[in-house]
Amino acid sequence: PARLPPLKDVAQFPVGTCVRSDQLADPAFARLVVEQFSQLTPEWEMKMEYIVQDDGAFRFEGPDRIAAFAHQNGLRLFGHTLVWYIHRPKAFEQLDEGRVRFVDAYRNYITAVVGRYRGQAVAWDVVNETIEDDGSGVRDSLWAERLGKEEHIALAYRFAHAADPGVPLFLNDYFLETLPKKRAAFLGLVERLLKAGVPVGGLGTQTHLIADQGPGLIKAAIADLASLGLPIHVSEMDVSIAGARGLLKDPRDLEQTQARLYAEASEAFSLLPARQRFAFTIWGARDSDSWRRKEAADDTPLLFDADGRPKAAAQAWEQGLR
Ligand code: G3I
Repeated sequence: PARLPPLKDVAQFPVGTCVRSDQLADPAFARLVVEQFSQLTPEWEMKMEYIVQDDGAFRFEGPDRIAAFAHQNGLRLFGHTLVWYIHRPKAFEQLDEGRVRFVDAYRNYITAVVGRYRGQAVAWDVVNETIEDDGSGVRDSLWAERLGKEEHIALAYRFAHAADPGVPLFLNDYFLETLPKKRAAFLGLVERLLKAGVPVGGLGTQTHLIADQGPGLIKAAIADLASLGLPIHVSEMDVSIAGARGLLKDPRDLEQTQARLYAEASEAFSLLPARQRFAFTIWGARDSDSWRRKEAADDTPLLFDADGRPKAAAQAWEQGLR
């Protein structure tokens, strides 16, 4: 088939994907990434769940491999993510209730990670998915419990900024297209943080979509998020098929719907002023890489053929094919 020009040459902004260090050892995958993308986000190895060991020691082999690959191949490195409600590492949880020790450990972690990649990471997701889906406020988490619902967020930004004052510090969340109350709460939090002098430097909208989503929601969300004037990162886009099963009978409809949603997102993002077009990241390059394969595992045969390969999957490439 005629080859399309590389994504990074077509877009007027950095185009990224998430990677795992084991994938980068596969020459075909490494070639695809270097050819198509200009930015990488570690899919999981820059998170506490990889770095923080039960005894409190840190391990950096994985993220160091990704950072080295990015540096060697002239790719930007996006740091993801320092604080997430999902993470409750034993090393933090078992700290006594004393706030001083906890905030020291919190500062030490953020300072160590951001400091390690200073000069390599072009930005960080400092806090991930902190707003409740119903828009009622900041989620509970170990961090909120020990340091306060909004204080733990302000502290994370201040510690990250102190460790690397030269890069924008993002707040990242999902379903901001389909949950307007959540988006309003997200923007409200950002406004409060900015007013308090907290260095929020960008907004990440993950854009994990379900293929049955109607037109216009992405465009409205990006315009609304951009209203604060901060850089925008479409940070984790994919278009799931699992959620659409039964709604769209024919996989071909699915592919047209996926194409429509990717077009809407990239067009809306392209309309932003250049200073707000930070990057457009898809969450995985090949179907076989997609985190959604777990989700798809219980999908009907409509969506996957005999050997479990997705017929119309969430990602841009089939394994090894374009
Ligand atoms: O590869 C290791 C394996 O060696 C080890 O034995 C096993 C046991 O823990 O872990 C395996 O790593 C898994 C990793 O994915 C790589 O497959 C981790 O357990 C698993 O937690 C990790 O899941 C990631 C998840 O975030 C949690 O970090 C997914 O890959 C990743 O796609 C997903 O990405 C999130 C974004 O960070 C935030 N937005 C939502 C998005 C999807 O959930």
